[in-house]
Amino acid sequence: MNVTVIGGNGQLGSDVVCAFENNHDSVRPLTHADIEIGNLDSVRNCLQNSNPAIVVNTAAMHHVENCEKHPAAAYAVNAIGVRNLALVTREIGATLIHISTDYVFDGRKTTPYVEDDAPLPLNVYGNSKLAGEHYVRTLNPKHFVLRTSALYGKHQCRAKGGRNFVDLMLELARTRGKVRVVDDEFVSPTATSDLTRQIVALSRCESYGLYHATAENHCSWYEFTKEIFSLAGVNVKLEAAAPGEFPAKTPRPAYSVLENRELKRIGLNMFSAWDVGLRQYLTGSVSEPLPSVPA
Ligand SMILES: NC(=O)c1ccc[n+]([C@@H]2O[C@H](COP(=O)([O-])OP(=O)(O)OC[C@H]3O[C@@H](n4cnc5c(N)ncnc54)[C@H](OP(=O)(O)O)[C@@H]3O)[C@@H](O)[C@H]2O)c1
Repeated sequence: MNVTVIGGNGQLGSDVVCAFENNHDSVRPLTHADIEIGNLDSVRNCLQNSNPAIVVNTAAMHHVENCEKHPAAAYAVNAIGVRNLALVTREIGATLIHISTDYVFDGRKTTPYVEDDAPLPLNVYGNSKLAGEHYVRTLNPKHFVLRTSALYGKHQCRAKGGRNFVDLMLELARTRGKVRVVDDEFVSPTATSDLTRQIVALSRCESYGLYHATAENHCSWYEFTKEIFSLAGVNVKLEAAAPGEFPAKTPRPAYSVLENRELKRIGLNMFSAWDVGLRQYLTGSVSEPLPSVPA
């Protein structure tokens, strides 16, 4: 199967490229130097000739503060760029697998969000990603929109200066006597390797739609850090920050936990608990192999 991965050198995109290659698919990674998704001609030129069966879009402007400062730029990539991809994939008959975010919700719920909960983003990033979701869902019937959360993986997160949260905490532990982390924001930290396995599995089916796609269970950033230090054998003083001690410049949901309800309904939820994914990331052990999927 011919697969094109947009953002092919990003944190998630790099893993997606490897996973499809390991599955013996023919993979074409596109970097920002190859394609500008905000430009319809660029999208047409890149996709029409290679005629992929599957296009995976991991490209986004997703630095939350930058999106807030530059809303037009955020919409140009996260909304219009995604519209361009939806239009062109429909024209060429390709399936579009698009990555979205838990930040489409306002975080006022106290139980995990399901796919039919009403989104209400708190910031430009979430609003522009929600607009992108709408374009995919209305323009290309052959789509998977996957909302994920708090990604970390072995490749650099390009929009966030390279380091993911796990590596940042380990660096703070090395360079400081103590680390203080917020204990009142809850997420489901998700390993890119786990999300990637889910993407490959979905690419083999036709159960198109909107899916929540995060690690199982949830934790606060403090609890996540505690587990990082415990698994890495790091001995550093860790303290829960007082509420409001690190005020965010841009509002964010305090509780953005997602339930993978639709993946479970179709019998394809491949995620394990967040601490299992973290252990695999820190020990370098390989996840359960993907059940054989036809090339
Ligand atoms: N990271 C997280 O914690 C997180 C959480 C939830 C959802 N997500 C979503 O997950 C996806 C992947 O995130 P990631 O962490 O892998 O991001 P990343 O490492 O920053 O990778 C994004 C990739 O997209 C490319 N790109 C950006 N703008 C582009 C454009 N206009 N045209 C073409 N390519 C463009 C970037 O290239 P350049 O760097 O060269 O511009 C980079 O290769 C995004 O959709 C994000 O919204 C991320």
